[in-house]
Amino acid sequence: MELVVDPLILRQRLSEIRRQGKSIGFVPTMGFLHEGHLSLIRAAKEQNDFVVVSIFVNPLQFGQNEDYEDYPRDLENDSRLAEAAGCDLIFSPEAQVFYPPGYATFVEVEGSISEGLCGAARPGHFRGVTTVLAKLFNLVSPDNTYFGQKDAQQCLVVKKMLQDLNYAINLHIMPTVREADGVAMSSRNKYLNPGQRAVAPVLYQSLQQAEALIRAGERDAAALKAAMRSRISAVPETVVDYIEIVDTQMLRPLERLTGSCLLALAVRLGGTRLIDNIIVNVEGQ
Ligand code: PAJ
Repeated sequence: MELVVDPLILRQRLSEIRRQGKSIGFVPTMGFLHEGHLSLIRAAKEQNDFVVVSIFVNPLQFGQNEDYEDYPRDLENDSRLAEAAGCDLIFSPEAQVFYPPGYATFVEVEGSISEGLCGAARPGHFRGVTTVLAKLFNLVSPDNTYFGQKDAQQCLVVKKMLQDLNYAINLHIMPTVREADGVAMSSRNKYLNPGQRAVAPVLYQSLQQAEALIRAGERDAAALKAAMRSRISAVPETVVDYIEIVDTQMLRPLERLTGSCLLALAVRLGGTRLIDNIIVNVEGQ
């Protein structure tokens, strides 16, 4: 497996691969890899001849008071894990190289897809995500790219950007990988102390409880959100950032559930912000 830090060398290397007629699968990450990331790399390996993984903690997508400096980094261990999962090349540029002084170009998806949920709670976040992805997609020019459903809103923002900017890249959205107790895997789980980690399953439990209520006939979004909120708020140290039920196309809030519904939440546990979601298909009224 190769490690490349220079964008020009990446371009040269990948044009050789393309000349050999090989298909390229691409998994963008911020590193500190876990089974969620590795599931994307394995899927890429199954469906492509050559797999590129980017590892770049993107300063543009962190707010002023967020954890850019503290975000966990371990390139050595990541390289081992990525290689074992089938990665052929890691691209890991320095922030000063990717955004040199005077950098001035940004890509932004406007409207309800990017403005609600995490977009409302983290202004500028998705602009940072789409800007770095535009750069990465231009450099790697993959046939296929792989994202996790864990970041449901990010998936939709990326889908819209790929459509609107005429990228010829197939987007594959892979299921959320969870720990045995239901907690969605995340690099940020590392921040949780043992007490916080022990109560973290309440996020997924509240989503499952809401799904059970929907299956039993509940269609009122306010009632479902209240049920989730009371379940989560019963746990000390939790602060709900948002609990929302939206349609899966435009991410607009629903009053009554119908069709394909995304139940999404963000909760602070101590200082750590965790997100989770499920999609529930609701038939009839
Ligand atoms: P990061 O949080 O490192 O996630 C990289 C990819 O792994 C994303 O597509 C994310 O949805 C996926 N992923 C994370 N946890 C997962 C889980 N438990 N199950 C399945 N997939 C999971 O998302 C980012 O980085 C950045 O915003 C990025 C797209 C790299 C742009 O900087």
